[in-house]
Amino acid sequence: MPDDALLGSLLAAVDASPDDVPLRLHVADLLAARDRLPEALAHCTQALSRAPGDPRAVALLQRLTAAIARPVEPGFDWGRAEQELGPLEAGFAQEYRPDAVTEDVERPSLTLADVGGMEQVKQRLEMTLLGPMRNPELARAFGTSTAGGLLLYGPPGCGKTFVARAVAGELGASFYEVGISDVLDMYTGSSERNLTQVFEAARRNAPCVLFFDEVDALGQKRSHLTHSSSMRNTVNTLLAELDAGRNEGVFVLGATNHPWDVDSALRRPGRFDRMLLVLPPDAPARAAILRHHLRDRPVSGIDLDRLTRSTEHFSGADLAHLCTTAVERALADSVRLGSVRPVGMADLDAALAEVRPSTGPWFATARNVVAFANTDGSYDDLAAYLKQNRKL
Ligand SMILES: Nc1ncnc2c1ncn2[C@@H]1O[C@H](COP(=O)(O)OP(=O)(O)O)[C@@H](O)[C@H]1O
Ligand SMILES: [Mg+2]
Repeated sequence: MPDDALLGSLLAAVDASPDDVPLRLHVADLLAARDRLPEALAHCTQALSRAPGDPRAVALLQRLTAAIARPVEPGFDWGRAEQELGPLEAGFAQEYRPDAVTEDVERPSLTLADVGGMEQVKQRLEMTLLGPMRNPELARAFGTSTAGGLLLYGPPGCGKTFVARAVAGELGASFYEVGISDVLDMYTGSSERNLTQVFEAARRNAPCVLFFDEVDALGQKRSHLTHSSSMRNTVNTLLAELDAGRNEGVFVLGATNHPWDVDSALRRPGRFDRMLLVLPPDAPARAAILRHHLRDRPVSGIDLDRLTRSTEHFSGADLAHLCTTAVERALADSVRLGSVRPVGMADLDAALAEVRPSTGPWFATARNVVAFANTDGSYDDLAAYLKQNRKL
């Protein structure tokens, strides 16, 4: 075939000029089109090592890894692989594809039932937020109020955003996620107007969970910035909007990894006056997360129970990293062998030796806060956890 003669010459040309990245990518493309995926991948990674971040190479790599992670040989038993991992929680099956999007506002179909484990968080949410919202008359009779925001806090990557989205799904509300640093960075002078627009959009989309991520950025940056007066204005705008009394149907949730840096004005009654600790995933949550990241991969002989036990203190993000590392190892082998080798426990054990839980530094700070700055009892939940886990 003249076509393949051309490919042969091009391969020889790559050998002769190994640093010619566009040529190599072209060859990788041609190989991929002929389903010679491992070879294509080898050229693609070579190209990337010479031109890190090259957008064409990155795009091709993504395409190839997606294609190669599915075994080409027809014999692979996907049914067995799935059975090995057990059933998948409904929420994962859909990857939070929002049902409707208006100005960044989504309508999540995820609910608390999709959150693996974390019984304590669910119970607290039910008691302090969802229950009163479902029964406003009862709440009024008991003198409790649903006004004011709930601040989710805990180490990074442990499910704060995930839980906030599930709360919106649970209430059948829309979900509007706002990163405080985005609001601040837009262009400093106009960030107050941005915040007002955010609240207006939330009201238009009511019922709406308005989720502020990195709430600490407001207080923290304020002390560092030379433009502290404009920062003060932004804080004031946020306070005014929170206090506005016209937030009917807008439920404000916040999240922070550093509650101790949150501007104290934001913690007053009617604002972010309640805190909810979101800890690293417990065993059922870890099993759910691991299952999620290993699904759709060719796996074989996975002992999910053992994995769950060996990943105590891992955050959700650490678990994702662990699975990617294991998959990469199997992929590298597959490239060498020229055929797909499933991901097995040996890959995961090797990954376990490499990936350590990232929550350590957070708990180191948390220990100090609990020891020296828990005078008002804000961190009693955290103190109890630290004590129970002998971290204190
Ligand atoms: N209990 C859980 N069940 C299922 N997935 C979880 C759970 N906790 C965390 N995750 C997953 O872990 C990852 C990190 O969670 P995320 O909500 O982004 O963390 P945070 O906002 O606290 O930094 C996400 O991919 C999320 O889907
Ligand atoms: Mg988050």
